[in-house]
Amino acid sequence: EKGGYPHFMIKEINEQPEAIRTTIMPRIKEGLPFLEECGITTETIKDFKNITIVACGTAMHAGMVGKYVIEDLARVSVNVDIASEFRYRNPIVGEGDLVIIISQSGETADSLAAMRLAKQKGAKTLAIVNAKGSSIAREADMLIYTLAGPEISVPSTKAYITQLSVMYLFAFELALAKETISTAECKRLVSALTKMPEAVQYVIDNCEEICKFVATKLVATDSLLYIGRGLDYALSMEGSLKLKEVSYIHSESYAAGELKHGTISLIDEDVPVIAVATQTGIIPKTISNVVEVKSRGAKVILVCTDACARELKDGVADYVIEIPHTDELLMPITAVVPLQILAYYTSINRGIDPDKPKNLAKSVTVE
Ligand code: F6R
Repeated sequence: EKGGYPHFMIKEINEQPEAIRTTIMPRIKEGLPFLEECGITTETIKDFKNITIVACGTAMHAGMVGKYVIEDLARVSVNVDIASEFRYRNPIVGEGDLVIIISQSGETADSLAAMRLAKQKGAKTLAIVNAKGSSIAREADMLIYTLAGPEISVPSTKAYITQLSVMYLFAFELALAKETISTAECKRLVSALTKMPEAVQYVIDNCEEICKFVATKLVATDSLLYIGRGLDYALSMEGSLKLKEVSYIHSESYAAGELKHGTISLIDEDVPVIAVATQTGIIPKTISNVVEVKSRGAKVILVCTDACARELKDGVADYVIEIPHTDELLMPITAVVPLQILAYYTSINRGIDPDKPKNLAKSVTVE
């Protein structure tokens, strides 16, 4: 049942190229997003003024990436909210707004309640769900299934990557509807997205060894930090959650620019820092934060593009995990892979079963 893999987690990491392909291919027609069967056309979405994305855990992190991409391409303001917060704080959503609910299981109690509240307040709801026929899928106004197939391991991997893929397709469609990108630009983006399964496969094939090695260095760590800016920050949230849930190492993610507002006081030689730097324009900024933590003794693991690695001065990072440069906006799809693999091997090295971390359930149907 594990197809020759020792754990579902690593099996599902390896299934990601296929999961992305299966999810996006039926939703592309003549080189453009095709979401009509999900109730989405440029006509049905062109008038939304505000978007709120509501979810929990990893699904919420997919929403964080979605926020950056939608705001950047479609120029619509996007709020991301944790479902358990949204539902108890009289949120400002109503007629004319879109609320997107992201959920692998489609049964998360807080996410379901948040969706019902959004509907009650008159907002339209779009669910991005993996489990067929689940409650959230049934009750939403519009529905895009992620076609990742059943996800067995508790830490979400292939569901997350397909949630990202769907967020991109939706953002492209919205940008077309809002006329903030041309048809030609949209086709270019869609074409870049179709190349991601291959890019993810390349990263799996080429990063496993280095991640395995770096994981041996984290076995005895008590606490570590993830840093990044922009999309890299959204991604480091997910990297941090993945690591803490399967390794039981305390970890937090910080916007790199926020370090000097308090967090840097935590840094010493016993607190490794995992920095993510894939966004060309802000790489120098993130690298300057890397230099700061390094000078305070931190061991630095840098996940960056090959282009960034080539320009790196000696000694800036202790370990560099390189990923190929693809379209800038799409980088989270490939950059998440080494973070997942690193979490997996750290878990194994600490003698933990990553598929069943203590105290966690695959589907959280109680609040
Ligand atoms: C982390 C993880 C959880 C879920 C969260 C939401 O790896 O799996 O954080 O993402 O419990 O679950 P769904 O997506 O089923 O609503």
